Amino acid sequence: MKSLSKILITISLFIGFLSANAQSTWVAPKSADAITNPLKNDLTAIKKGKTIYQQLCAVCHGDKGKGDGLASASLNPKPANFLSEKFQKQTDGAVFWKLTEGKAPMASYKESLSVSQRWQLVSYLKSLK
Ligand code: HEC
Repeated sequence: MKSLSKILITISLFIGFLSANAQSTWVAPKSADAITNPLKNDLTAIKKGKTIYQQLCAVCHGDKGKGDGLASASLNPKPANFLSEKFQKQTDGAVFWKLTEGKAPMASYKESLSVSQRWQLVSYLKSLK
């Protein structure tokens, strides 16, 4: 009995270790790729998106979008780096879907931001490359 509990503890520590080191693979559903951005490359929208970003997102994703905001140190998984190729390769629709749905520790912005505010953010994030 004693050795069984030792084995169980070892296993749970190992799983904890794995998840602490796991690279997040958050993938939007394929259908999201088909949603087109009505505010793509719209300079006014990008500017508005930047303002919202500074207010709501920079605390985790960092001032420049590198994923190094004040709150990021304690987060697992880490906030995304918007300058990365991996991020920039995603469709605008996929990014919009993620903002809308959220995924802990990030909130869903479905209720708190309007559809056009979410597209403003997408346009801003895609302008960061
Ligand atoms: C509490 C901290 C926090 C806040 C605030 C936050 N995020 Fe995030 N965000 C995260 C984390 C952590 C992830 C990574 C989640 C994962 O990969 O599982 C993430 C992921 C994302 C992704 C997906 C990136 C990718 O490559 O797939 C997008 C897009 C995003 N955030 C946009 C935003 C925007 C825009 C805001 C502000 C409206 C925001 N986030 C606010 C923590 C946060």
